[in-house]
Amino acid sequence: MSTAAADERRKTVCVTGGSGYIASGLIKFLLEKGYAVNTTVRNPDDEKKISHLKDLQSLGPLKIFRADLNEEGSFDEAITGCVFVFLVAAPVVVDSENLEEDITETNVRGTLNVMGSCVRARATVKRVVLTSSVAAVLHDGRTTMQGGDDGHVVANAYGAGKVRSEKEASRVARENGISLVTVLPVIVVGAAPATRGFNSSSLVLSLLAGERSRARSIAGRRVVSSMAFAILTCHEATTEMLKATQDLAGGTARLAGFLAGKFPQYNVKTDGFGDVAEEPRMLISSEKLVGEGFEYECKNLDDMFDDAVEYGKALGMLP
Ligand SMILES: NC(=O)c1ccc[n+]([C@@H]2O[C@H](COP(=O)([O-])OP(=O)(O)OC[C@H]3O[C@@H](n4cnc5c(N)ncnc54)[C@H](OP(=O)(O)O)[C@@H]3O)[C@@H](O)[C@H]2O)c1
Repeated sequence: MSTAAADERRKTVCVTGGSGYIASGLIKFLLEKGYAVNTTVRNPDDEKKISHLKDLQSLGPLKIFRADLNEEGSFDEAITGCVFVFLVAAPVVVDSENLEEDITETNVRGTLNVMGSCVRARATVKRVVLTSSVAAVLHDGRTTMQGGDDGHVVANAYGAGKVRSEKEASRVARENGISLVTVLPVIVVGAAPATRGFNSSSLVLSLLAGERSRARSIAGRRVVSSMAFAILTCHEATTEMLKATQDLAGGTARLAGFLAGKFPQYNVKTDGFGDVAEEPRMLISSEKLVGEGFEYECKNLDDMFDDAVEYGKALGMLP
């Protein structure tokens, strides 16, 4: 069979936000599984942000489209003809004076825009997988929350955006007969093709780089309760992840202790976490995922961090 004919027979899927950390890992996984992948980025001319996508093109048919969450219809071209659509793009770390607009509203608007494109492509789209976050459960959609033991109130633009996005996506899916699965990753860790920018893996690796403030800030917001390298492929009959582990991390202090033991060559600070909760304040059940046939590839933190140091070097965080 010619390469063109083989490509013709592949199922095409869309992954939004190909410049991002999770999306880049997901794209690699899907290409290795034999799918043709359409991905979207805000600026296809930004060579630095898409160089890993150019590299991934050696694995299989990967097309790069321009789309912005704030532009209605901009995802149409990438989604047309796809069987599965993974909504991964979302504002995560944003330097903004107006978090409500730039995180919450962009997240909701973007979800609605992508869902609109899925509705227009529903002749082929069999399932949509929405990447939400544990923040949606943790904060229950409140726009403010207690930030720590001193009781100060912090903004929760991210969690609020995730809750509203889930609700809107469910409504559109229900009204249009689209199959929707929502996934709630916690803190995602591990190597991925995208090696630019600050992501959740670099947050955890900051402990290896001798910092404690960034990881503390996460724990203070009660987010570190478990960790998973969540490659989200809830698209066929079963639910799979590439490499994941669950509920192993405990609090940040316990994680720091583990990293200090495993990587003695780094200057991991294990003290100074006294005011950060040692035990997870909430555990998210993976029962549904496991019930679908999913098996965690990593059984312990050792497995999960085996490639972490190499990734930290690629990010330029570790010597
Ligand atoms: N990593 C975690 O631990 C974790 C945990 C829970 C949930 N999640 C969720 O998983 C998804 C991916 O997260 P990530 O860690 O991979 O973050 P990331 O590396 O920051 O990726 C976010 C992606 O969204 C894109 N994006 C942001 N604003 C956009 C806009 N207005 N229009 C189009 N694209 C836009 C970014 O594009 P640019 O490169 O152009 O900015 C980037 O590709 C997000 O929905 C996040 O909420 C992640």
